[in-house]
Amino acid sequence: MSETCHKVTITTPIYYVNDIPHIGHAYTTIIADTLARYSRLKGHETRFITGTDEHGQKIEEAAKSRGKSPQAYADEISGKFKTLWDEFDISYDTFIRTTDEKHKKGVQKAFETMYNNGDIYKDEYEGFYCVSCETFFTQTQLLEDECCPDCGKQTSIVKEESYFFKLSKYEDRLLAWYEEKEDCVLPKGKKNEVINFVKQGLHDLSITRTSFDWGVKLPDSLHDPKHVMYVWLDALMNYITALGYGDDERYMEFADNMTHLVGKDILRFHAIYWPAFLMSLDLPLPKHIAAHGWWTRNGEKISKSKGNVVDPREVANAYGLENFRYFLMREVPFGQDGDFSQKALIDRINSDLGNDLGNLMNRIIGMSGKYSDLVIDSSNVRTYHDKELKEAEALLENIEEYIYQMQLNRYLETLWKVLTIANQAITTHEPWVKMKEGKTEEAMALVALVANLLARVAILLSPVMPKTCDKIATAMGFSINTKTYQSLYHDRALLETFTIQKLPALFPRIEEEVLAVKEVVSAKKEKKKKEKTDGIITIDQFFETKLKIGTILTAQEVKKSDRLLQLTVDVGEDEPRQVIAGIKEYYNPADLVDTQVCIVANLKPAKIMGMLSQGMLLAAKDKEGLSLMRPEKPKKSGTPVG
Ligand code: MSP
Repeated sequence: MSETCHKVTITTPIYYVNDIPHIGHAYTTIIADTLARYSRLKGHETRFITGTDEHGQKIEEAAKSRGKSPQAYADEISGKFKTLWDEFDISYDTFIRTTDEKHKKGVQKAFETMYNNGDIYKDEYEGFYCVSCETFFTQTQLLEDECCPDCGKQTSIVKEESYFFKLSKYEDRLLAWYEEKEDCVLPKGKKNEVINFVKQGLHDLSITRTSFDWGVKLPDSLHDPKHVMYVWLDALMNYITALGYGDDERYMEFADNMTHLVGKDILRFHAIYWPAFLMSLDLPLPKHIAAHGWWTRNGEKISKSKGNVVDPREVANAYGLENFRYFLMREVPFGQDGDFSQKALIDRINSDLGNDLGNLMNRIIGMSGKYSDLVIDSSNVRTYHDKELKEAEALLENIEEYIYQMQLNRYLETLWKVLTIANQAITTHEPWVKMKEGKTEEAMALVALVANLLARVAILLSPVMPKTCDKIATAMGFSINTKTYQSLYHDRALLETFTIQKLPALFPRIEEEVLAVKEVVSAKKEKKKKEKTDGIITIDQFFETKLKIGTILTAQEVKKSDRLLQLTVDVGEDEPRQVIAGIKEYYNPADLVDTQVCIVANLKPAKIMGMLSQGMLLAAKDKEGLSLMRPEKPKKSGTPVG
């Protein structure tokens, strides 16, 4: 958002439909909603875009595992996002789905344009792919030769014909853009990470796949029906197709001033690929790409498998939607990670909202009720309280800067400093004493000062807590809109004489945690637990590991791997198990057949280089090499060890 432009676009990432909405999604969406509301309050024409990302291998696999068609599955989950945002009163203008026909048409037009501009060529891709992150990697980028460096999950080998985007061509232009536009990527620390990444050199980007088909087809003009577009190319284009690109382009002028809100995990796609695509399309570059941190629970990443997911609907129902919004915006500095706890939320509600804001409203109602029949007249505020007013005005003067820098916590902190001036003015000037001394005019001026400060705070707080602030404004006889933003905040006008309406308490005190959110044992605690036992385990703990004798039936090398052998092992079950073992350097496959081994039989199956491994062989390894653990005398396959 910038001061001068009057057509503004704010976006959230579009959410994958393999997961139901959680606190992380709510966070991005609520920040974006706050920015959009602020932009409208200022009088900018604003398009706020959110939606769902529905194509790609991850979604296709998720649908399959539930026995659904990808479209039916996407319809279901996309609906859950939309319903939640509607319940949360998210003020989006467009909810885009990448399965919308108009979107697909726009993506095809973009592909065709980039192709015609000479930025796309056909070749063969050979490398690794993480389905969970929908990201390509080279071998050197992988963890332990096979795992995704971002999420740690197993990658798979991809070798297929692919179209490539000439990302490398844009390296210099990207670096020049980062340098020229100071705030193009926020916060600054994250921007430096992006710059360093680009400086290491960019590879051209594979932008189509042929091994599955749940994606947007290439434009007909390319006559290449076996390819579908890479999901990130498809997804990023939503930011312009939602403005009508490739269809009814009437909103395309909003593309001149775009702010993209994203989580830190997807900054690279937005700060490198996306501007490069836009350069190729000859379209304006984003104004800001702002990356926020992650919410954790007890310091751990939130994930379904850990069972520590925080359901935003539950939190909002238990503690109030706007209180939750305030907490999310206030609790962590933008860009940093934050730990969600009900205690912290309750503290914010009772202290910031109840004591500082709600109580101020009560005090105004109480005092004006006693002194002036609830009538509040601002005529003498400047006479008696110019100092306090000026102090507050100085604080608020540059508050917008915090919005442009995405420092919403600092923005709120500043509003609270104004509330402190108001609360302190009451304590310092003791209007009740003034009333006793017959100085009614002075006492009423003090009440009017406080009411005016609260009115300005309510206007500026309204993008974060719209309904609460509307209640405050209505009780004080005005509405929050661009006109009052301009007059009461910008032009520093005072409220006209009004009769304040009594309000029930805005923030009833919360005494104890309302939600029974499952607590998880944090990694740290678990480590401590282990330390206490000095590594000693009980016999029961030992027998949790099921060890069995297995007989190797077949053994062969895994192509493209220096370490791995693919074995089938009889462990006395109906079917032999497949085991992928890192023993290639030490054993000739033919020598292993018909020999016996000791196998961990209750290990969770894992995929290694795309192949299922259903157990682990016990072995001892030292400088001299590796030796498999075998029974001294032959034993029946499946015999327990222990
Ligand atoms: N589909 C892509 C985005 C494409 S945009 C062209 C995607 N989707 S996502 O559903 O996985 O994530 C969406 C957003 O949620 C990301 O910005 C991500 O950072 C955010 N969050 C997911 N979990 C989060 C937390 N625990 N905390 C904060 N935000 C996190 O990526």
